[in-house]
Amino acid sequence: MAEDNFTVTPWEVSGNVDYGRLVKKFGTEAITDKLYDRIKKYTKDLHFLLRRRIFFSHRDLNWVFDEYDKGNRFYLYTGRGPSGHTHLGHIVPWMLTKYLQEKFDAKLWFQMTDDEKFFFNPGLSIDECSRFAYENALDVIALGFDRKKTHIFTDFDYAKTMYREAAKVAKKLTFSTTKATFGFSNETNVGSIFYTSMQSVPAFLESVKAGKNIPCLIPHAIDQDPHFRVCRDIMPRLGYYKPAAIHCRFMPGLGEGGKMSASQPNTCIFTTDSPKDAENKIIRAFTGGRATIKEQKEKGGNPDICPVFQYWAMMFEQDDRKLQEIRRKCLAGELTCGDDKRMLAEKAMAFLVSHQEKREKARDKLKDYIVKD
Ligand code: TYM
Repeated sequence: MAEDNFTVTPWEVSGNVDYGRLVKKFGTEAITDKLYDRIKKYTKDLHFLLRRRIFFSHRDLNWVFDEYDKGNRFYLYTGRGPSGHTHLGHIVPWMLTKYLQEKFDAKLWFQMTDDEKFFFNPGLSIDECSRFAYENALDVIALGFDRKKTHIFTDFDYAKTMYREAAKVAKKLTFSTTKATFGFSNETNVGSIFYTSMQSVPAFLESVKAGKNIPCLIPHAIDQDPHFRVCRDIMPRLGYYKPAAIHCRFMPGLGEGGKMSASQPNTCIFTTDSPKDAENKIIRAFTGGRATIKEQKEKGGNPDICPVFQYWAMMFEQDDRKLQEIRRKCLAGELTCGDDKRMLAEKAMAFLVSHQEKREKARDKLKDYIVKD
């Protein structure tokens, strides 16, 4: 069998990801047209991230809706590894999470894994990870999650609750499973080996609190799936449901190939970037355009390999007709990359101005969302 020329793990995404192949490799299921229709039956409309197949894969989504039909409503769980400021890519799964919260009136547990980032990043201290956890929480709050239905916590500051439950998972999780799943070796620090136990806890925490089993649905990008594969194997052995999940693709970086990643700050837009910095990054972006304007006009550009077009599709143009028009003009050579980038930069700057305002206001609201013990 041919070697894949891409890598997707919770800590590294590189190469040209073949999502069809990834679904097979990870053993998830592609979301079928029938399943999109089923979602639409509950939500009345389909979120643009669903309509555009940016959320494309799942585990047990039909089951979660079967339970819902029986009156057994699900809660949502998602998270963030606070190794730095939030970037636009992180917001993609959070947008769908918010929509699901609204449509299904669902409770949300939002985990900030300051412990994970401490274990996995040699250069980060506990204090730095914890500080970023609360900075990232501001972004979550700024997006407008329902304060009565959203609990945000950091692993260290909710450790009393978390550790007790994580220990139950850890007792069922062997070193050989983590080696096979994540490629760990004898040299890997034991904190990292233990860590999946922590990420598993919110997948059953609501059941612990309620004293009965409650289905859980986890929206995330597909890189996090290996954690939940392990978690799903263990849950029934602890008497809990396996969590369901819905997976999105990666927002690319502004360079050629690769996902948006904080480790590549020049091709990554952080929510804390000044609008001017974001504009500069976008203006310097790689595109699917031709070498000269003359050639672009004659042959048209290639939106399918163009991060600028992906940003329109994944975040900044939610109207399908307008998106199609950008695509058409690009293919027909009517839109130059320079103009396209300037248009996108305008949108991105407007988003940042408004988001940053909400983000500052969120500082006063933190106490309403954060749970500690
Ligand atoms: P983290 O901080 O790497 O990423 C946070 C969320 O963003 C997704 N993501 C992206 N989505 C689209 N485009 C991108 N370029 C992109 N980069 C990252 C991730 O899949 C994730 O959904 N270990 C986790 C924290 C965590 C978590 C969870 C995530 C704890 N519990 C439950 C999801 C669900 C982490 O480091 O995520």
